[in-house]
Amino acid sequence: MATEEESSEDGGVATAGGATETLSVTDNRTGESYELEVTDGTVKAMDLRQIKVSEDDFGLMTYDPAFLNTASCRSAITFIDGDKGILEHRGIPIEQLCEKSTFLEVAFLLVYGELPTEPQLERWTFDITHHTFVHEDIKQHLHGFRYDAHPMGMLLAGVGALSTFYPDAKNIDDREERYMAAIRMIAKMPTLAAFSYRHNRGLPYVYPDNDLSFPENFLSMMFKMTEVKYEPDPRLAKALDVLFILHADHEQNCSTNAVRAVGSSQVDPYSAVAAGVAALYGPLHGGANEAVLKMLRRIEKVENIPDFLAGVKDREEKLMGFGHRVYKNYDPRARIIKKHVDEVLEATQHNPLIGIATELEKQALDDDFFTSRKLYPNVDFYSGLIYEALELPSEYFTVMFAIPRTAGWVAQWLEMVDDSEQKIARPRQIYTGGRELDYTPMDARDGPEKITNEALRRPVRSRRGA
Ligand code: CMC
Repeated sequence: MATEEESSEDGGVATAGGATETLSVTDNRTGESYELEVTDGTVKAMDLRQIKVSEDDFGLMTYDPAFLNTASCRSAITFIDGDKGILEHRGIPIEQLCEKSTFLEVAFLLVYGELPTEPQLERWTFDITHHTFVHEDIKQHLHGFRYDAHPMGMLLAGVGALSTFYPDAKNIDDREERYMAAIRMIAKMPTLAAFSYRHNRGLPYVYPDNDLSFPENFLSMMFKMTEVKYEPDPRLAKALDVLFILHADHEQNCSTNAVRAVGSSQVDPYSAVAAGVAALYGPLHGGANEAVLKMLRRIEKVENIPDFLAGVKDREEKLMGFGHRVYKNYDPRARIIKKHVDEVLEATQHNPLIGIATELEKQALDDDFFTSRKLYPNVDFYSGLIYEALELPSEYFTVMFAIPRTAGWVAQWLEMVDDSEQKIARPRQIYTGGRELDYTPMDARDGPEKITNEALRRPVRSRRGA
C-alpha cells in the first residue's frame, strides 16, 4: 500500500524501478477512493484491509476458495505458461531437460537453482546413493500393514515415520540439517515405495544396489527375484528417468501447497512432505493416473467410446486425464510422455489399453465440448499406460508420481523456509453459521431420531478441486 512518503506527485506509487503502477478503487458503499500498488501484476490482499465502511469494520478481504486467482508466494523454481503450454524449471524448458538431463541432475537444479558442475553432481549423486537405505525399524513399520494396504497409505506413513528417526530435522534453521533432510527424502522415497510394492505381493524386500543409477536401482528394488545381480532394461530405465523428470515439480499445485502450508508451521520437513503425499493421493491430483486406467478398463473397447463421451458430456462422470487448472492447452508433459509410450511397449510387449486411449484422445479432441472448455490431455493421461506396461498395479501409479515430486516438494520447502515474507499459513473465512445462540438443554431439543446429516450425503462429484 502506498505510504505518504512513497506516493509520487500525481498520487501514484513509485515502484522499485521508478515506474508508477497503481490500481484506483472506489468503494461505492462510502464513496471513498483508494490507490493500490500493483507489483508483478498483483495487488496485495492486505492492502484492501484499509477499505472500511466504519471505524470498527474489520476491512475488506478477498474471497478465493481454491486459490483460483491468488499468488501465495514468490518462487523462482518452476515457470508455467498454461495458455502456451510452457513448463520450465529454473528457466530451462522441460523438453531440453527430458532430452539432455537426468532426474538426479534435475533434482539438483530444483534444489540449488542451477545446473551442477561435474564435481557437484558427483557429490550429489554419491550422497543420494548412500542414503537410500532405511532403518530396519522402518522396514518393520511397513511390515505391520495389511497385505492389501494401499501403497500411498504406506508411503504416507513411511515418510511421516522418518521424522521420528531423524529428530534433528526439526532444527529447520540449521542448513546442514536441511541438506540432510533433502538428501534423505529424495534418496529414501524410492526405497519406501518399492518396499510397499513388495509388501503387497508378499515378496521379500530388496535392498538398494549402490552400483545402479537412480531409476535402475528403483527397478531392481521392485523387480529383482532370484538373480544375483538385477540387470534393468536400459529402455525402461530411460523411460522411467524421463517420467521422473516430468513429475519433479509443477509450481504451486495442491500437494506443493500442502507442503508449504504445513511447513509454514515450522514443523520438520518429513512431516511437511507427508502432507504433500496425502494431497497427491487424491483422485483430482496424483490419483488421476490410477483413475485413467480404471476408466480405460471400464470403456473396454473402442466401440464403447462414443457412449462414454456422451456420459461425460451429460456430467455423469469426468474424462480422467483431461483438463488442468493451469494448462489451457496440451500439457507439455503429456506430449513428451506420449513419445515414450511406444518405446516402453516395445520393451515390455504389454499394454492392451493403448488403442482405447489413443482413440479416446482423438474423439475428445474432435469434440467441441472439450475444445471449447480447453480440456486437453494432461500428464496423467499417458503416464498410467507406461506404468501399466511395466505391469504395475494401478494403486501403485500415484506412488510413481510421489517419488520424483519429492524433489519438488523439498525444493519448494527450502525456498519457503528462506522466504522472509512467509508466515504461518492461516486463511480467513466468511462465517456463515449462527451467532450468540443459547445452549439448549437436552429435553428441549427437537429433531429426527436418527442422524440424518445431509451435508455428509452430498455427492462428492458436486465439489470441484485441483
Ligand atoms: N472431464 C469433463 N469435464 C471437465 C473435466 C474433465 N476431465 N475437467 C474439467 N471439466 C469441465 C468442468 O465441468 C467445467 O465445465 P463447466 O464450465 O461447463 O462447468 C470446465 O471443464 C472447467 O473445469 P473446472 O472443474 O472448473 O476446472 P478446474 O481447474 O477446477 O479443475 C481439474 C482442474 C484437473 C481438477 C479437472 O480438469 C479435472 O477434474 N480433471 C480430471 C482429473 C485429472 O485428470 N487430474 C489430473 C491433473 S494433472 C496432474 C496434476 O498436476 O495433479
